[in-house]
Amino acid sequence: MSILVRSFAKINIGLKIGSRREDGFHELRTLYQTVALSDQVKVDVSRGLGIEVCCKDPRVPSDESNTCYRMADRVLRAFKTRNKVRITIEKTLPVQGGLGAASSNAVAAMLGLEKALKRELAPGERLRLAAEVGSDVPLFLIGGTVLGTGRGEQVYPLEDLPSFHCVIATPEVGVSTPAAFADWDSRIAGQKLTTADGFDRINVFSHSVFEWLSGSSFSPTGVPSKGWDRAEAMLLDLVRTGIENDFESVVFPKYPAIREVKRALERSGARYVSLSGSGSTVYGLFADKQEAARTAKALIDSGVPAQATVTLPRAQYWKAIFAKNST
Ligand code: C5P
Repeated sequence: MSILVRSFAKINIGLKIGSRREDGFHELRTLYQTVALSDQVKVDVSRGLGIEVCCKDPRVPSDESNTCYRMADRVLRAFKTRNKVRITIEKTLPVQGGLGAASSNAVAAMLGLEKALKRELAPGERLRLAAEVGSDVPLFLIGGTVLGTGRGEQVYPLEDLPSFHCVIATPEVGVSTPAAFADWDSRIAGQKLTTADGFDRINVFSHSVFEWLSGSSFSPTGVPSKGWDRAEAMLLDLVRTGIENDFESVVFPKYPAIREVKRALERSGARYVSLSGSGSTVYGLFADKQEAARTAKALIDSGVPAQATVTLPRAQYWKAIFAKNST
């Protein structure tokens, strides 16, 4: 039995880093948004034992450190079953790019394995296993627009944002997330923040998001006020409310090439531009499809890998996950 699962990417719209906790993780607040770029994960189950992960991309580990391996191991244990599981990852998304690809691959492996075994985990169990595999994994159990709190693993579905055109640009610079958090710690060490100050910092995030989502473009019914095109008005409000990714302040000074890509996107007419996660992906949100396509092409011509796509609301996310499936 062979199951195909599409494994979509995410971007972060704003990311506020708080204090380093006793467990070494950082308290954070972010909005995750799934986008229509994906890897494909194939799950095969047969008689026998062992988990095998295959990927042609040499940067993807095939041992126990692979997120799909770790997830499959947990799912088999949860079902108390023994099978031979083979997971094949067809990579299109950048590796370590800030798009959550490895985390999304893990959820695809979970969903594929459930389907292959014709069994389902309880929602709470899915969430628990996802959070064990990584902070960015649970969001892919929701899709669309998701609020992330805690270390990023506590997730809440938000009302979907309208679908935006976007350009995802991933300069070929490897940014390590733990190193970016460490750089953040050194940067704020001089500021001698208390834990309470740390919470004050991240609470600013909820204020900005509140201001954004209750701005002129938004009404509780989702009907645009003032006759604006809702997506365009929301992009203007997003810029106005100053929602930013804290990682930019440590990643840009270290990797000026990434900041250059942000500037190029800003010059191209993107309404909102930001680093995603700890990078190296920088994305731009556009009101116009042609403008997004032109910008992606110009970036590629200048040597920066880039793609034009759209943000993916929840219903489309779930519809597309098993779309290519064949058994
Ligand atoms: O959870 P995940 O495996 O993605 O985290 C990778 C590393 O990133 C952690 O080991 C930790 O160093 C850092 N991290 C953090 N605070 C978070 C999330 C991740 O310090 N909220």
